[in-house]
Amino acid sequence: MANRFEGKVVAVTGSGSGMGREVARMIAAEGGSVVVSDVIETRAKEAADLIQSEGGKAVGLKADVTSQDDMDLLVKTAVDNFGRLDAMHANAGVAEPTFGTTTRLHEVGAAAWDQIMNVNGRGIFLAFRSAVTQLLKQGSGGVLLATTSAAGSFIYPRFPLYAASKFAGNGITKAFAVEYGPQGIRANAMAPFHGMSPNLLMPADAPVLGKSYEEVGGPWDPAGNPGAMPLALPTPPTLRDNANLALFLLSDESRYISGEVIHSVSGATSARVAMNFGSAAAGDVVPEDVRAALDSSDK
Ligand SMILES: NC(=O)c1ccc[n+]([C@@H]2O[C@H](COP(=O)([O-])OP(=O)(O)OC[C@H]3O[C@@H](n4cnc5c(N)ncnc54)[C@H](O)[C@@H]3O)[C@@H](O)[C@H]2O)c1
Repeated sequence: MANRFEGKVVAVTGSGSGMGREVARMIAAEGGSVVVSDVIETRAKEAADLIQSEGGKAVGLKADVTSQDDMDLLVKTAVDNFGRLDAMHANAGVAEPTFGTTTRLHEVGAAAWDQIMNVNGRGIFLAFRSAVTQLLKQGSGGVLLATTSAAGSFIYPRFPLYAASKFAGNGITKAFAVEYGPQGIRANAMAPFHGMSPNLLMPADAPVLGKSYEEVGGPWDPAGNPGAMPLALPTPPTLRDNANLALFLLSDESRYISGEVIHSVSGATSARVAMNFGSAAAGDVVPEDVRAALDSSDK
C-alpha cells in the first residue's frame, strides 16, 4: 500500500456518501488525516466512524457547502484537530432538480437554477475560498480539487441545469489555478461519468449504498452499452475507479498539474462527441455526387 498522504490533512465536502466517502477512506488508508463533511450530519459522523474503525484518522462534521461560515468551520476543524490543511476536495453535488419529470428547460423556475448553482457552482467557490485563506496563511502551497462531471463538458439529456452548474464548477476551478499558482496552490477538477453513486438520485434519507450504478444495476454485461461506454471490462466500474483519480490529483504525484479538467472512467466523453454514423461505414455517408467528383478528380 502506498503512503501518499502520510502527514497530510485533507477536507472533503459531501463525503458522507458515494465517491467522496470512498476518497476519504482511501486517503486515511494511505496515512492521511481526513475531515469528513456533509450537509447530512449522520452521514458525516457515520463515515468518520467507519474510517476510524478501519484504523484511519478522521473527524466528521455537518457542513453545508452553500454556507461560507460552514466552509470556514470545516477548515477550522482541520486545523484544530490536525494542525493544518493541505488539500480541499470540493466534492458535494446535487442532481437536476426536475430529474424524473417531463418538465422542459423553459418551464424550470429560477428557484431550481439557484438551488443547483448554489451547491454545484457556488459550493466549490466557497470551499476553495475558505481553503485558500488557510493555505496562504501557512505559506507552503496546497491542493484544490473539485468534483464536477462529464456533464460539465457536454450536455446530458434531461440534465440541463446540472450541466450549467458543472461548467461553472470547471470554470471557477481554472480561475483559482491561474490566480494562486504563483503561491504554489494548484487546482484541478475531476469529471466522472460511469462508476458513480446512485445515491445522487435518491432521497436524502436513503441508505448510503457505497456502490456504483453499474454494480447495483443487475447482472453486469460489458457488451451492453458500447455506444456510451467504450471501455467495458469484465467487472463493472466502481466508486473506487473514480476515487483513484481524486487520490492522484490530491497527492504530490500530480504536483505540476493545475488548471485541468480530467475525466475519469470509460472513454464515454469521446464517444459522446464523436459523429454518430449509425451502422453505415464512414465511406457510405459521403453523398453520391461528392464521391463521384472526388473519384473523377483522382484521374
Ligand atoms: N452519481 C453520478 O451519477 C455522478 C456522475 C458524475 C459526477 N457526479 C458528482 O460527483 C460528486 C459526488 O457525488 P456522488 O455520486 O458520490 O453522490 P452521493 O449523493 O452519493 O454523494 C454526494 C453527497 O453530497 C452531499 N451534499 C449534497 N448537498 C450538499 C451540500 N449543500 N453541502 C454538503 N454536502 C452536500 C449529499 O448529502 C451526499 O452525501 C457530486 O459533485 C456529483 O455531482 C456524480
